[in-house]
Amino acid sequence: MRIIRSKKEMSAISRQIRRQEKTLGFVPTMGALHQGHLSLIQRAREETDFLVVSIFLNPIQFGPEEDFKRYPRVFKRDARLCRREGADVVFYPKADDMYPADFKTSVSVSELSQVLCGRFRPGHFQGVATVVAKLFNIVSPDIAYFGQKDAQQAIIIKKMAWDLNMPVKIKFVSTVRQNDGLALSSRNIYLKPKERKDATVLYQALNLARHLIKQGNVSARDIVRRMKQLINKKKTAVVQYISIVDLKDLRPVDKIKGKVLIALAVWVGKTRLIDNIIVNV
Ligand code: PAJ
Repeated sequence: MRIIRSKKEMSAISRQIRRQEKTLGFVPTMGALHQGHLSLIQRAREETDFLVVSIFLNPIQFGPEEDFKRYPRVFKRDARLCRREGADVVFYPKADDMYPADFKTSVSVSELSQVLCGRFRPGHFQGVATVVAKLFNIVSPDIAYFGQKDAQQAIIIKKMAWDLNMPVKIKFVSTVRQNDGLALSSRNIYLKPKERKDATVLYQALNLARHLIKQGNVSARDIVRRMKQLINKKKTAVVQYISIVDLKDLRPVDKIKGKVLIALAVWVGKTRLIDNIIVNV
């Protein structure tokens, strides 16, 4: 496994792989890898000939009040995990190389970026789309893998690739959870013991929604209300939003039908957690 820091070198490797007519799989990450990331890496390893994992803590997708400074930075450990999972290259660019002082361009996917998490994290998805577009141009993958854990992000990236004719296939990978249902996240390490216990309520609320829909309840408003009630029972949890939206355009639905995304963001203590499920009615 090679660790590559230079964009030029990364592109050269990618060109070489293409000349050999091998398929190139790509998993972009911000590091602090856990089993969620590893499931993307494993899937890519199975499906493609040459595997590139990027580790880049992208400053432009964090708001001024967000956790960029305290986000875990554990590159050595991450590189070890990538090697163990059979990655061929870890691309680990420097922030100054990705964003030199005269950097001026950004990519924004309208509408999809303004709803759900976008309402509370202005500029976030523009930061994500911009860095992923840059990474796609440097790495030139055939297939790139994204987690359902960040469903809105995955949908936005797929739309960006389609709209901008990027020759890459976007694949979604299911959310990996702890035994008690909590979705794995690099941010879970911020949780204090009591908060960690309370955090299971996110998935419980999603399961409640699934259960109610199965029983024939089609009222998004009623389901959201009952999810809120459940979450509010936990002392450390404060709901930021709960939304039931159409999976394709992320617009809110009143009467649940077809494929819907049920998504939520909850503050647990000082940590903001997100989760979602897709329900097909
Ligand atoms: P990061 O949060 O490091 O996540 C990298 C990838 O791992 C994303 O596609 C995310 O959805 C996936 N992932 C995280 N937790 C997961 C879980 N529990 N189960 C399944 N997949 C999971 O998302 C980003 O980085 C950045 O925004 C990035 C796309 C790299 C752009 O900077």
